[in-house]
Amino acid sequence: MGVFSNGGAGIDLGSANVTISLENEGVVLREPSYVLCLRDDTDDILAVGRDARQMLGRTPEDVLLLSPVMDGAVGNIDMAAQLLRRLAEKALGKRRALEKNRLVVTMSQGCTRVERTALEEAVRATGARRAALVRSSVAAALGAGMPVEAPRGSLLVTIGGSTTEVTILSMNGVAAARSMRTGSLAMDEAIMRYIRREKGVIIGQRTAEDLKIDLGNAMDVPGLYRQTASLRGRDAASGKPTTTEITGADIHKAIQPTLETLVENIRDAFENIPAELAEDILPTGMVLSGGGAQLDGLSDRLSEMLKLNVTTSDAPEDDAALGACAVAADDKLAQRLEQSGCLIEL
Ligand SMILES: Nc1ncnc2c1ncn2[C@@H]1O[C@H](COP(=O)(O)OP(=O)(O)OP(=O)(O)O)[C@@H](O)[C@H]1O
Ligand SMILES: [Mg+2]
Repeated sequence: MGVFSNGGAGIDLGSANVTISLENEGVVLREPSYVLCLRDDTDDILAVGRDARQMLGRTPEDVLLLSPVMDGAVGNIDMAAQLLRRLAEKALGKRRALEKNRLVVTMSQGCTRVERTALEEAVRATGARRAALVRSSVAAALGAGMPVEAPRGSLLVTIGGSTTEVTILSMNGVAAARSMRTGSLAMDEAIMRYIRREKGVIIGQRTAEDLKIDLGNAMDVPGLYRQTASLRGRDAASGKPTTTEITGADIHKAIQPTLETLVENIRDAFENIPAELAEDILPTGMVLSGGGAQLDGLSDRLSEMLKLNVTTSDAPEDDAALGACAVAADDKLAQRLEQSGCLIEL
């Protein structure tokens, strides 16, 4: 890219995070997918991303905290557009306006026609002059360095905040796929419920997420009960602030049912892979991507269950944005993906 030419930008618009990658720079921004606005005048945006999420659980009555992307799809077009535009401007800076860059935004495999139209509208509303949508699983596979072009199938499982996708890629396209509207966020909710039920303490989603990341393990490994955290919450009976001790074993128990559903869904999708493709996959195994893939012990658990080699990509949370950016920077690749139905020019 020359000094005066404009570059490509890839945006992974997820239900948990917006991640932005720029040509020649890599991932420059990741912020939570939240918008804070006035309840009576939703055009009045008070904050987006991290600044908005700070207000989670402590919003005054006259403000509204919204997640415009739910279950991997745009639920609120105007707010999604605001989120995209404001975070893109933050990442690009004034000197490289959105209008001048080639923008590629991810879309979930499982999104319906209506949801896709909503995403298209949100991307158009950002004012980007040259934009396209790419299937998030294909973007993640590119970002993870998988052989997407190869004439044999390769298997990718992405676990995001609220979507899980099992995809077999071959020849720049999707040979088979299953998308499920569940993900890592469901584990946060399970932890909140467990701590309320077993300890009588109410905690917020952010605390639950921290516990999942710090103490969570998909395997019942020895010594989990020795990993402890002291956490502050509200006593469920009295409403007063209180503290309680929690162990890795508690968190394992809390997430177990959710995790079981998740891995069973992956198993089911895996068992339904067409025979010819399954043959391609057995020697290479499965690649895990998406933020939720970072749960300790998850790759071991899947590997044990499926009797398959499972590897987690190097930067699971970055893959989709990196791949989208790679597409934005390479017209030939974009053309090939368009031919295979994985890319839509706007
Ligand atoms: N170390 C970790 N262990 C477990 N979970 C993690 C870890 N790090 C991040 N996560 C979870 O990953 C999720 C976010 O992943 P990601 O950014 O890929 O989701 P997303 O793309 O926004 O969502 P989706 O693809 O479902 O729309 C969050 O729920 C977060 O708690
Ligand atoms: Mg995602």
